[in-house]
Amino acid sequence: MNIDISYYDDITSTNEVLKQMALDGAQSGKVLVAWHQSQGRGRLGRSFESPKGGIYLSMLLDNDSTMLLTAKAAVATRRAIEQNTDRKVGIKWVNDIILNGKKVAGILAQAVNDKVIVGIGINFCTDIDALDPAVRDIADTLYKKWQTPECDAIDIVNTLVREMYDLASEKGPSWLDEYRGASVVLGKKVNIFQAGVRTGSGIATAIDENCALHVLDEKKGEVILSTGEITLRLS
Ligand code: BTN
Repeated sequence: MNIDISYYDDITSTNEVLKQMALDGAQSGKVLVAWHQSQGRGRLGRSFESPKGGIYLSMLLDNDSTMLLTAKAAVATRRAIEQNTDRKVGIKWVNDIILNGKKVAGILAQAVNDKVIVGIGINFCTDIDALDPAVRDIADTLYKKWQTPECDAIDIVNTLVREMYDLASEKGPSWLDEYRGASVVLGKKVNIFQAGVRTGSGIATAIDENCALHVLDEKKGEVILSTGEITLRLS
């Protein structure tokens, strides 16, 4: 696979620009990295605030399940952070990377024709206090503004891109064990949300081979989630 990375100081959205490139014939291996996005996209049609200080990248991959590629991207992001920094991060099903109980990175996978775009936003040295109040309390950053990063953002980009393309071609299940081992939800009480509405709650019991989350719901018994979101319950 020929990896071809383009860097931008400023972009609308790396996912959106890469989507147009894919429609114009770009090949798997094309990667866009930006240091600021004016129209960052999040999951479920939300926007993704993307100030300077963060790392915003999108990778074009051969067609596969967006669910599996999202989970593989979570593993690749965790590896990239842990190989380049002393930070220990977990994965909150399905697409959030968690540091100190808060979100430090998010992933958005989108199918485009016969390809998939995987976009990842990482709070590298992001000014959390300047974020929208709705996300400020649930977000963290690898480095605070007064801290000197142990690595360049580019080191994280390079590791992440390499790990993601390696994982994308991996057929065996070992990466899934890594995903499960890094999970911050397995064995925990969770609330289930579908389209923003709470639909149940229970204990997260398993992540299966399709990366669906199994929850033992207090009212409905076993629920298998392949869409939607969960939040951790404190009691
Ligand atoms: C989420 O947590 O809701 C997913 C956030 C994904 C954000 C990344 S940043 C790079 C890429 N470009 C975008 O517009 N979105 C993704």
